[in-house]
Amino acid sequence: MKGVILAGGTGARLSPLTNVTNKHLLPIYNKPMIYYPIETLQSMGLTEVIIISGREHCGHILSLLGSGKGFGMKFAYEIQEEAGGIAQALGLSEDFTDKDNIAVILGDNIFERPFDVSSFNHGAKIFLKRVTDPQRFGVAEIKGDTVIGIEEKPVAPKTDYAVTGLYLYDQTVFSIIKSLKPSKRKELEITDVNNAYVTRGEMQFDFVDGYWTDAGTFESLLRANMLAAGQTLEKILRDLQRP
Ligand code: G1P
Repeated sequence: MKGVILAGGTGARLSPLTNVTNKHLLPIYNKPMIYYPIETLQSMGLTEVIIISGREHCGHILSLLGSGKGFGMKFAYEIQEEAGGIAQALGLSEDFTDKDNIAVILGDNIFERPFDVSSFNHGAKIFLKRVTDPQRFGVAEIKGDTVIGIEEKPVAPKTDYAVTGLYLYDQTVFSIIKSLKPSKRKELEITDVNNAYVTRGEMQFDFVDGYWTDAGTFESLLRANMLAAGQTLEKILRDLQRP
């Protein structure tokens, strides 16, 4: 299995923090944000990873991460010239993945625990987490052990199961992407890719163990920092309570 990290986008919701740098280079406690998705792919035993980012700050991403040697991995890079959505960015990894299955992770997704993906061999798989603000995410409706549909940022979510930014796909993902039409916000949506697998009856799911957060808004960026700081945060809070 090969890894794909999607680190594009303008990070507009984090302006002015993102005015002169890429969102994925912002600090989450003691590491740049992009280290966390790299470590999640590492936990799955993946060594070959492509990082897809926008043109503007890709030089900084490259100078931070280099060949991947520091992680015991091998990194490739691809540029997404225009902001065409998550699925459009993923489409750029077709040549790199070369008929292998792929694990795709969004560059601002922070997972606490490692993943075991060794049993995955075909179709697609999503990872769900219960949240209090499902309107911000892709939201899955499940019946027994089947995903029956996913809605992107629904106004009235049917469940509180957020679809996290980690996805496993077989190679049919690229023909699905080629068949997609842009959404209302003129992007190729990852939720449309996932619903294509749901329609074929080839979507599996699991729940995320441990904490998960994205980091694309001020509130979630702060939450990511607090979660990643762990015991250091607890110490700070204890100290603050001292008279
Ligand atoms: C994206 C996806 C959404 C998913 C989320 C996870 O949303 O479109 O389905 O739940 O990532 O982080 P975005 O963060 O681009 O708004």
